[in-house]
Amino acid sequence: MKAIAKAPGKAILTGEHFVVYDQPALVMAIDRFISVTVAKRPDTSIRISSTLGYTGTFEGEKFHSEQGGGAAQRILTPVHISASAVLDAVNHRCGLNINVDSEIPVEVGLGSSGALAVATVSAVGRLFDIAFSEPEVVNLSLEAERYVHNNPSGVDQTVSTYGGVIQYRKNQSAIRLEVESPLSLVIGNTGVRRETGRLVDSVRARRTRIPDVMDRVIRSAGVLTTKAVDALKSGNVSLLGELMDVNHGLLVAAGVSSIELDRLVHAARSGGALGAKLTGAGGGGCVLALVPDERQDTVSRAIQDADGVPIKVNKVEGGVHSWINE
Ligand code: MEV
Repeated sequence: MKAIAKAPGKAILTGEHFVVYDQPALVMAIDRFISVTVAKRPDTSIRISSTLGYTGTFEGEKFHSEQGGGAAQRILTPVHISASAVLDAVNHRCGLNINVDSEIPVEVGLGSSGALAVATVSAVGRLFDIAFSEPEVVNLSLEAERYVHNNPSGVDQTVSTYGGVIQYRKNQSAIRLEVESPLSLVIGNTGVRRETGRLVDSVRARRTRIPDVMDRVIRSAGVLTTKAVDALKSGNVSLLGELMDVNHGLLVAAGVSSIELDRLVHAARSGGALGAKLTGAGGGGCVLALVPDERQDTVSRAIQDADGVPIKVNKVEGGVHSWINE
């Protein structure tokens, strides 16, 4: 018997980083997914294999890499943490075979680690015939995110769990927004991988050095997200685009942009985007452009001409779901 769970990735429309400091963020589940398949095994090891090219087995404290060399342990440890969190919660001590099938590029700000944790928690729960509630899935999947950085806001796990468009604030219930107007979005991937934890730490360090300046930036970002939510609700997409442009400026002020990201942001705007910003932790990874429908191709080409990889994404309404395959 196998249990399978499938969870969507995410794109943050406004508020990344500042959400760690209790400001709201606006985030959307996107139509790129991670599937996790889990089966019991007779020993107590946890063997994890990912289509991204990493395989290894955790036996107690030990890790044996089979594929992906030294990076395998770092990439697969969050899966191990998520699976172990569920085994602890259900009080079972069995081994597992876990297969990860991902269409979300890793470490580029599209929520691959959040979706992976959420899908792992749901699949392992389903294997023991437990359908965790949404808050339980978020809570259990946060264990893995704490390995990535020690003060996660929970925004990625929340949107992968619930799906749709969400107004999120740390330690508060997510507010799902019913968005009538279809949002036409193009992502531009710089192809530069980065570590979320390092970037979150760098923002914290800047805030410690110049708290009176950074606290104002952080508070402005919170006001900006509130306005972005209103713009979205009233269908004012050009205002939403403008707010995304300003949000990019605040992320530049926080020190998490890069030459590659700035180049793609400017390319998207010159191609006719209503607004563009880096999305996720920054430092590399992706930009997100809000575009009029008829400009999707022009903006994609502009991103390509600026050495980025364009990805057209759509909103998905559903969050993680799981099932049994006999
Ligand atoms: C990463 O997708 C979002 C960050 O705000 C980190 C977090 O919220 O935990 C950079």
